Amino acid sequence: MSRFTALALLSAAALPGALAWGAMGHETVAYVASNYVSSATKSYFQSLLGDTSTDYLASVASWADSYRYTTAGAFSAPYHYIDANDNPPTSCSVNLDRDCGSEGCIVRALQNYTSILIAGTATKANLQIAAKMVIHFAGDIGQPLHCEALDVGGNTIDVEYNGDDTNLHAAWDSDIPESISGGSSLSSAKSWATDLISEITSGSYKSQASGWVSGLSVASSSAQTTTAMKWATESNAYVCSTVLKGGVSAVENKDLSGAYTTTAQPVVDLQIAKQGYRLAKWLDAIVAAAK
Ligand SMILES: *[C@@H]1O[C@H](CO)[C@@H](O)[C@H](O)[C@H]1NC(C)=O
Ligand SMILES: [Zn+2]
Repeated sequence: MSRFTALALLSAAALPGALAWGAMGHETVAYVASNYVSSATKSYFQSLLGDTSTDYLASVASWADSYRYTTAGAFSAPYHYIDANDNPPTSCSVNLDRDCGSEGCIVRALQNYTSILIAGTATKANLQIAAKMVIHFAGDIGQPLHCEALDVGGNTIDVEYNGDDTNLHAAWDSDIPESISGGSSLSSAKSWATDLISEITSGSYKSQASGWVSGLSVASSSAQTTTAMKWATESNAYVCSTVLKGGVSAVENKDLSGAYTTTAQPVVDLQIAKQGYRLAKWLDAIVAAAK
């Protein structure tokens, strides 16, 4: 069964949680990025997106999750993930030839929309779409279950969270992030981002941040793909080390709101901080290279 068919079979009620990092996670990535972009990048994207507020990236960060469910945007549904056909928790890996099918995947989509922005020849409407795709996918690629094929990226692994029925993918998209930020609102995202920014600028992430962006390059399509593959591979490794550390049986039908969440939170914090910082440098590189 294709992932798309399997997703279509999920109940409508389960779908919002199955989209991606929930909107709040995407907004947090965007707020972290907003803090680190250059002033040229800020002007470029505020002008392209027609929004001079401080929320210019956060406001569009989850647009791609609504677009994928429209008729016009259905083609982009596979662009939100890469189906790593590895074997967690024994072995994790991403292989572009093996895992990125003819329908496309997040690695190729990041490359594609990045090169569209750099070329600058598309219509303004299509440049706006490209920007919104890049901003969104830089977040999704950091969610370990967006870089995993097993059980439709965990969508078909039933779990509970605080007594409510959900699935493993949705717990990672929304429940665990919200357990850190305290809610699903834009203001929760903003305050979580403020915490992560202080960790990056002067706290526990300070010594790591330059490593997160080392080798980051948009200089050619292969450099763009290499960078996106690095992000996907790092994210996928957490499927083995954390998400499915004890195998499917350790999480299936279990309530994940206790010890599991305590173990997952540092990974979610790190992945959101890292992808926000990377997105800033990626957008800077795009603007520097833009024709
Ligand atoms: C690349 O972008 C074009 C223009 O929006 C789109 O039609 C195509 O589906 C995209 N391909 C991938 C793999 O992202
Ligand atoms: Zn998504």
